[in-house]
Amino acid sequence: MHLRNCHNFHDFRRMAKQRLPGPIFNYIDGAADDEVTHRRNTAAFESCDLVPNVLRGVNGIDMSVTVMGQKLGMPVYCSPTALQRLFHHEGERAVAAAAARFDTMFGVSSLGTVSLEEARRISGGPQVYQFYFHKDRGLNREMMARAKQAGIDVMMLTVDSITGGNRERDKRTGFAIPFKLNPAGITQFAVKPSWAINYFLHERFRLPQLENHVDMGGGVMSISKYFTEMLDPSMSWDDVAEMVQYWDGQFCLKGVMSVEDAKRAVEIGCTGIVLSNHGGRQLDGSRTAFDQLAEVVDAVGDRIDVMMDGGVQRGTHVLKALSLGAKAVGLGRYYLFPLAAAGQAGVERALELMRMEIERGMRLMGCSSVEQLTRQNLRFR
Ligand code: LAC
Repeated sequence: MHLRNCHNFHDFRRMAKQRLPGPIFNYIDGAADDEVTHRRNTAAFESCDLVPNVLRGVNGIDMSVTVMGQKLGMPVYCSPTALQRLFHHEGERAVAAAAARFDTMFGVSSLGTVSLEEARRISGGPQVYQFYFHKDRGLNREMMARAKQAGIDVMMLTVDSITGGNRERDKRTGFAIPFKLNPAGITQFAVKPSWAINYFLHERFRLPQLENHVDMGGGVMSISKYFTEMLDPSMSWDDVAEMVQYWDGQFCLKGVMSVEDAKRAVEIGCTGIVLSNHGGRQLDGSRTAFDQLAEVVDAVGDRIDVMMDGGVQRGTHVLKALSLGAKAVGLGRYYLFPLAAAGQAGVERALELMRMEIERGMRLMGCSSVEQLTRQNLRFR
């Protein structure tokens, strides 16, 4: 399979599956419990239809948006995701460079495999730092100070991961980081040689955001263990209010779902919230961000920037979310499979397809700018 034959999410996913060792593919592809929420995330976009207007003289299309003070050339951004160099040796470097080329925002994860400082040097565009709240408060402050120093534009605190989701695929495959040359690892090496050669020939796997601060237990660590042992389940609104003050800049909560919580986010001075169920990887059976969007936008949309993520695979999904009032939409697996399939070239092709789909969709909708996408153009079944 070749990149030029990838025309949509499913093609990239197939290509990634061919290239990646099974445990790594399943780590990206999988979700919690029965993966119901994961499936619903994409299906939710089918609960409504777009109603286009015609003959509106749509020539130039301006799809730019401003979110949390950042001007983005397109209304989608690359959400922060973990462990990218495990998927392709270019990892976060590829995503930072691709996001910059498409004039959009990207995030570096606390569990990122390239330092936020290096990503900052590569991109120059708006950069989010995804942050987890650790039990050690001193560590939290240290990490925020480092992000400030690096010139991070937006702090994004993940609030839906105070314990690990039940990822049964990872349990079956024994997925752990870093990838080890034990008998199972050697088998993978033999089955997926091109992945393995790239992985082992490039620089050692690292977690530069955490390594100076956290003892990763001699190297092998499961995601669920990190969440459960390092993160603080007692994190409260007061703790976050303190962080918001300390950061003193654009601060966003990722994983807010209820109207009540959205209002509290406004009260403590957050400038953004991302409605998200973490790609269905945390609480299975939870509602989709898309289904929750309208009521949250109605409650707080005039006081805080509401974003959403989860299951976005098409330009028309983005148009539906924007029509309901989302300020921008986050992508996760949508760029991770292309990254795994072909590095920076893959991410760029995926973003280019997305850009073209949004542009085509807006033209067919009769909208030349994002403000013209409203609920008037949407009907629920
Ligand atoms: C995950 C975390 C690391 O979903 O965000 O695997």
